Amino acid sequence: MKKITFITTDNETVTLEGSSGSVMELAVANNIKGIEGNCGGVCSCATCHVHVAPEFMKQVGKPGEIENDMLEFDDNVNEYSRLCCQINVADAPDGLVLKVAGEE
Ligand code: FES
Repeated sequence: MKKITFITTDNETVTLEGSSGSVMELAVANNIKGIEGNCGGVCSCATCHVHVAPEFMKQVGKPGEIENDMLEFDDNVNEYSRLCCQINVADAPDGLVLKVAGEE
């Protein structure tokens, strides 16, 4: 089991546990505000945009090419931006902290 903490757009901190699937799926299943996952995780909506806590960025890694193209359309992009449907829970560092990047 991995622990993943989300800081929502309301500044609420929610820690979830998971072992498989994508981080987006984990967030949606637990109603994390600001993570919608509209495209179902195929990297074409950017409604799963998060900012990775800087200390975890190296382990999580930079966005892939398609992911980057998608992020270009999103406001609020910074060097810690990732689309969390592209991060597998199994590959995520334990204790990962993600800030929801949505603007609601
Ligand atoms: S869920 Fe659509 S890009 Fe991540």
